[in-house]
Amino acid sequence: MGKFYTIDDVSEILSVTRQTVSKYIKEEKMNAVKLGKSYRIYEPDFVEFINDHSICAEDVVEYKAVDYNGFGFLNDIRNGTSAKNYKLKPFEINHEESFNTFFWGDNLHILKQLMPKIRGKVDLIYIDPPFGTGQIFSDLDNNEAYDDTLVNSEFLSFLRDRLYLLKECLSKEGSIYLHIDKKIGHYVKVVMDEVFGYKNFINDITRIKCNPKNFSRKAYGNFSDMILFYAKNRDKQIWNDIKEPLSEDDIDRLFKKKHKKYGPYTTHPIHAPGETDDGDTGKEWKGMKPPKGRHWRYSRKELTRLDDAGLIEWSTTGNPRKIVFAKDHDGKKVQDVWEFKDKGKSYVDYPTQKNQDLLERIILNSSQKDSLVLDCFAGSGSTLIAANKHKRKWIGMDNSEYSLKTVRNIFHDQGIKSNYVKLVESE
Ligand SMILES: C[S@@+](CC[C@H](N)C(=O)[O-])C[C@H]1O[C@@H](n2cnc3c(N)ncnc32)[C@H](O)[C@@H]1O
Repeated sequence: MGKFYTIDDVSEILSVTRQTVSKYIKEEKMNAVKLGKSYRIYEPDFVEFINDHSICAEDVVEYKAVDYNGFGFLNDIRNGTSAKNYKLKPFEINHEESFNTFFWGDNLHILKQLMPKIRGKVDLIYIDPPFGTGQIFSDLDNNEAYDDTLVNSEFLSFLRDRLYLLKECLSKEGSIYLHIDKKIGHYVKVVMDEVFGYKNFINDITRIKCNPKNFSRKAYGNFSDMILFYAKNRDKQIWNDIKEPLSEDDIDRLFKKKHKKYGPYTTHPIHAPGETDDGDTGKEWKGMKPPKGRHWRYSRKELTRLDDAGLIEWSTTGNPRKIVFAKDHDGKKVQDVWEFKDKGKSYVDYPTQKNQDLLERIILNSSQKDSLVLDCFAGSGSTLIAANKHKRKWIGMDNSEYSLKTVRNIFHDQGIKSNYVKLVESE
């Protein structure tokens, strides 16, 4: 029957407890073969489970008090002090453009070095920094990708320093999305308010990151994290108002009738409130006048065109209504709860790699073609890949060698041209 996994293997791969794996088996979510007292999960069954269930690692629950009293900030970037001097050293050049570059090193010093070039030029920043969890993130073979060992006020200080620099990079129409978990996220919100201004806060987006959890802890399953969205100048930010396609439920609810050729549809009145005294929309059309206190929604010429095109439905009592097809609907307004689940650890290139569709939504909504997009905690380069796909210019940074390796591999495989620059100490 080929390669198989034990409950222990699955528990380790998915970073969930043995009890959770047993539960998946008991609830018949995961197919397993019982042999004596143990179970075997054959590879095809495991792959099927992974494809059907996006998994989140169970949290290490260790709540230490955050030093809330002004967060005990360690340093203040605005004083501009830095013990060492740095410079940027290109080590692989693949194009002549000034952007589309991956910088390897501590983003604080890279941002300072780049500032003269990018101040006020960045239209969109997405960052997904470490979450102050105190953990080390490794791949399945235990190779360390990055550590997240700065916690509490130290973590908030670290972030705050970078946020002040990021604010300087933003263009007048720029905006920033910061991805964070819900243990530290509310403190981060206060720091963001300080740096960007409370008035520039736009949304706290709840992101559903995985399937509902079924742990035994006395708590509600936490299957979401948060994305804090701020503008440099609220209401001036680039906003493309992208829409979300209607769900099948929406279509069933809103378009109850079925057209033989064009599918689900509904009908709308062809008149609207308000009388027109002598305009075209107040006059008789096909032997009838608009109802009292109303006018035709379209000119009489347009009504005739619609009728000739079969787009007016006449009731048995002779009441005309305009046919509106579900296929022509331009989608619904995006709300502040987003479902973009991440893939399990065994199916990504980098631990904590974010969902590509999530990044595409942000890029499509909050930047334009040729906008400069920046991610200074780039990890696998997911933001840069999405930006590149939609013809934005981009700058990525990360201080992990594992990240550099991952980004280079993915960019190479996908034919994405990047220059690579290293932060070095200058003598
Ligand atoms: C949560 S991961 C980002 C994952 C990324 N969004 C993705 O989809 O792959 C956080 C990243 O921040 C990087 N990082 C942490 N501290 C940094 C620093 N001071 N300078 C640059 N990168 C840093 C880590 O190496 C890690 O890759």
